[in-house]
Amino acid sequence: MRGLHSAMARETKRIAINTGGGDAPGLNAVIGAVVRAALHRGWEVLGIRDGYAGLLDTSKIVQLGRREVRGIAHLGGTILGTSSSGNPFEFPISAARGATEVSDRSDEVVQNFKRLGLDALIAIGGDGSMRIAHDLARKGVPIVGIPKTIDNDLNGTVTTFGFDTAVTVATEAVDRLHSTAEAHRRVFTVEVMGRYAGWIALHAGIAGGADAILIPEIPFDLECVCRKISDREAHGRHFSIVVVAEGARPIGGEMVTKGPAEAGREVTLGGIAEQLTHQIHAETGKETRSVVLGHLQRGGRPTARDRLIAQRFGAAAIRVVARGESSVMVALDPPEIRTVPLEEATSRMKSVPLDGDTIATAREIGICMGDE
Ligand code: F6P
Repeated sequence: MRGLHSAMARETKRIAINTGGGDAPGLNAVIGAVVRAALHRGWEVLGIRDGYAGLLDTSKIVQLGRREVRGIAHLGGTILGTSSSGNPFEFPISAARGATEVSDRSDEVVQNFKRLGLDALIAIGGDGSMRIAHDLARKGVPIVGIPKTIDNDLNGTVTTFGFDTAVTVATEAVDRLHSTAEAHRRVFTVEVMGRYAGWIALHAGIAGGADAILIPEIPFDLECVCRKISDREAHGRHFSIVVVAEGARPIGGEMVTKGPAEAGREVTLGGIAEQLTHQIHAETGKETRSVVLGHLQRGGRPTARDRLIAQRFGAAAIRVVARGESSVMVALDPPEIRTVPLEEATSRMKSVPLDGDTIATAREIGICMGDE
């Protein structure tokens, strides 16, 4: 086994790495780990700037060595840049905002991959990027995915990196809002990200001691939320905090969006917290304010946990390439990192399980989940 390992380690490879979709804290830690683990085996690493779009314009490709990744594990953002609109299968024809025409440029990506003499692509991304990775893998590109997203909605992995930082930021915000809410006897609605999944809202809401948590998986009844606020009032608790996921919606209602989606992009969610403030005020008479945490949840330093998972994912991805596996995503399956086929990772969204113990915990400690 040892002999085999060192034989593989000696085999020189040329790999590339890109980061697609929205950024997430821990991206630089992954990039650093991939580069170091690859150099450790004597391989060469190319960084592709600006997501998949960088594979359509080879001037965006840079050599990554120790110098480029020195001292970056604790930094937010990504030294490679990223893009949410670079899907080569649906590439926007015009760069103008609001453009709707797209073209399939995936063959160019495959050609450039071959022309660069690459052995594998390490694709760091969320559900959208993993779907692109899966489609490119079907065209013969050897790809290993690394699960990134603050939303934690990728199937096949217990967690993605970036999620812990987002939950930490949101929890701290809820903590801080408690004192001002209490001082003014107000209700606060706090909108957190998470797209169509309620992971951030649920975890930060419980950790921060929210009174109600509204998530996309449980369409809410405004009356239940207002009853919770009024009950607290009746018991001398003159303030309340409602943590609401951006994708939450009332029973029979729609998610709140910021206009139609642009070409090759997901629709932008947002506005539910503000909408709720008016409704809660109208129903309860309580002065109500909203706070939207938005991209604060994605910026800045990754937590220690995210840095660790990110680096474990990065080193594991290199091990996967070394043993010749592809069309897979590395995944956390505690205590180990394993691989799941890209097919499985992209087969469905990982929603919050309604019969799981975290939802049960919320209910049992008196948090209103919007439905009872
Ligand atoms: O997927 C990560 C995420 O931050 C979602 O939680 C959010 O809906 C979306 O990206 C925001 O995207 P953008 O950065 O394009 O506004």
